[in-house]
Amino acid sequence: MITRRALLAGGVGLGMSAALGITPARAAARRAPLSDPFQLGVASGEPTPDGVVLWTRLAVDPVALDGRGGMPDRPVPVQWQLAADENFRTVVRRGTATARPESAHSVHVELEGLEPGAEYFYRFKAGAELSPAGRTLTAPAPGTRSRALNLSFTSCADYQTGWFTAYRRMAEDQPDLIAFLGDYIYEYGAYDHPVRDQAGGECLDLAGYRLRHAQHKADPDLRLAHAVAPWAVVWDDHDVENAWAGDRPSLARRAAAFQAYYENMPLRRAQKPHGAALRLHRSIRWGRVANLHLLDTRQYRDPYACTGGSGTVGPGCVQRFEPSRTILGQEQETWLDGELRRSEATWDLLGQQVFLMEMDWTNGEGRGYSNEGWDGYVASRDRLTAAIDAYKRNAVVLTGDVHSHWAGEVKRDHQDPESKPVAVELVTTSVTSAGDGMDVYPDTADLLRENPHVTFCNGRRGYVRTRITEREMRVDFRSLPCVTEPGAPARTSGSFVIEPGSPTLNPA
Ligand SMILES: [Fe+2]
Repeated sequence: MITRRALLAGGVGLGMSAALGITPARAAARRAPLSDPFQLGVASGEPTPDGVVLWTRLAVDPVALDGRGGMPDRPVPVQWQLAADENFRTVVRRGTATARPESAHSVHVELEGLEPGAEYFYRFKAGAELSPAGRTLTAPAPGTRSRALNLSFTSCADYQTGWFTAYRRMAEDQPDLIAFLGDYIYEYGAYDHPVRDQAGGECLDLAGYRLRHAQHKADPDLRLAHAVAPWAVVWDDHDVENAWAGDRPSLARRAAAFQAYYENMPLRRAQKPHGAALRLHRSIRWGRVANLHLLDTRQYRDPYACTGGSGTVGPGCVQRFEPSRTILGQEQETWLDGELRRSEATWDLLGQQVFLMEMDWTNGEGRGYSNEGWDGYVASRDRLTAAIDAYKRNAVVLTGDVHSHWAGEVKRDHQDPESKPVAVELVTTSVTSAGDGMDVYPDTADLLRENPHVTFCNGRRGYVRTRITEREMRVDFRSLPCVTEPGAPARTSGSFVIEPGSPTLNPA
């Protein structure tokens, strides 16, 4: 296993021209017209027991304002290789894909027929230029007793707000799978005093979203995180527009954001958008250990209750209890119910965007519930907790959105004080959003006291690292002292163990 040291040193891929049978003279001659087209790095995702998606997107100028990455308006052939070893001595698959201008010169190679539970290495070549190498994994065979799943997850990476150090620290753990839970980009225009300058203004059209994605992908910390492990991604609001719901934003803006999202993520063809529709909900299975159900709480949700806005509402807002209201949409609810009913894995992980457990965000007198979370769609939550309970699933909810770490217990019925917990919820902080933060905010102790089912909070940036076996799930909340300066170390601010059959957080 190279991977970690060589990938971290950026050394993989050096001297590969010779390995591919290209003489130095020809390589030099071909190099001239096209400078490095692999500045956006490489990625993989969507592992199955016999396959994975390999991704790259060509760009010689990632911050070209037209979103085209400085690429010519013509198709470019891209060769790819998959090997069993990091030196590419044992190439097990190879082929050629076409990077087309209408797809922002992105490439998605959907592989099948690979070995289950195996580690692979991959790279691309365009002209004479070799990409850096990436490492990826296939999932274990269905139903097999398998080694631990090392899964890390995070959310919310606002480029202007700080350095992507959390991605680098996550990569250094060399997880088996990285789940990203939304706000991979922020659509916003320029801030007054950014930590880092972003190219372009607010993302409003395809060029704008493509540009924002390209600038993110060119970040060395994010490139590293994509190169070390397969990813499973879902979006939240800022991948399209702040707090989007219902009939906003326009179909044209949605379609532009969806297209750029697909182009820039290691997703399968099944996730290719059709205009302003993109099916993002799906499951990734990891042997007998876990099923990761990836949810989309944005695209199909009913409009916000009472106020029509995404803020908090008081106890007087009864609309949030209406049985017909849904945050997943009926089709996705039915699909998820079926996934849980049929699940045979030890753990069912729900990778999604917004707080599932009830949360009173108002300190002291009065109560305030977020319209943006499942609190605004109580009947939807009750149907989900009923399914988890009925099918006796060990459910762990993985959540993003709120730019701080939280952990707590999801009750079967949050309106009933006697109700038992049916799931544990782990909420990851952000990569950068909200800036350096602080370990304990002035209102944290009060919020925890008023929400006794919530047991942990940390207000720094970072990610969550888990190690999941059939016997237990270990959880480390990883926190960085700052993101306004690059290179901060990560420390563990909280550790928990969850055991099958007992949806509670035990101190590690
Ligand atoms: Fe966010």
